[in-house]
Amino acid sequence: MANENDLFDDEPAKSAKPAGRQGSEGRQPAGGGAGRGSVTRRRFLVGAGTAAAAGVAVGTGVTAGITMLGDDDDEGGAGPAAPQADGMTLGAPDGVAVTQAVVKLNVNGKDEWVSVAPNQSLAEVLRENLGLTGTKIGCDRSECSACTVIVDDVPLNSCSLLAIREGGKKIVTIEGLEQGTKLSTVQQAFLDNMGLQCGFCTPGQILQATALLKRNPKPNEAEIRREMAGNMCKCAAYPNILAAIQAAAKATTV
Ligand code: FES
Ligand code: FES
Repeated sequence: MANENDLFDDEPAKSAKPAGRQGSEGRQPAGGGAGRGSVTRRRFLVGAGTAAAAGVAVGTGVTAGITMLGDDDDEGGAGPAAPQADGMTLGAPDGVAVTQAVVKLNVNGKDEWVSVAPNQSLAEVLRENLGLTGTKIGCDRSECSACTVIVDDVPLNSCSLLAIREGGKKIVTIEGLEQGTKLSTVQQAFLDNMGLQCGFCTPGQILQATALLKRNPKPNEAEIRREMAGNMCKCAAYPNILAAIQAAAKATTV
């Protein structure tokens, strides 16, 4: 029987955060650890891998920000070009450091083109570029899950995702749960059951629980504990968090 004050004492790290469990890997510069100045466009695209397929425009601009080079995999470049609606792939010429990229993120149902550094985490971009400060950064190393957001229906640690690789995916933050002035069922349940104290971990807890209830609308206690096992609460509000999720599960909608 699990200690009621600890949701996390009987399960290993949750399986629902595959990318988030990659530790600090996701925080490495996309071009690799060798000096940025030596990262060529081709090497960067190989390293960035999925970014190329996910709607990323890579610019040059060692000191001057971003330069769009064209709308296809064009070595020569065609001068400034507007971002393509379905994303596109471009890069700096060989020998030019990749310092910025423009990526299209779909956040809370809205497309946002943002300029990011190749090593910027999704959490940083959400907070600093888009002003969505509901996403909290605690450990910044995939240990506490305060930074949880939902990416394509999967709750992930945004501190350990590179924003440049999240183009084209549907991202939901805590700001995206409200409908008008109405809290979501899970938000309301946390409020009704005092599922928080300081509130720092709460956005991550709510998003994790929301993803759970969408996938499994009627989880039992063990399933809730297992799902929430990676979401730490320094205030130890675990009994109330559990009660809140159980209450939300009784409702018909998440
Ligand atoms: S897991 Fe991302 S801030 Fe702790
Ligand atoms: S409510 Fe304070 S860390 Fe969870």
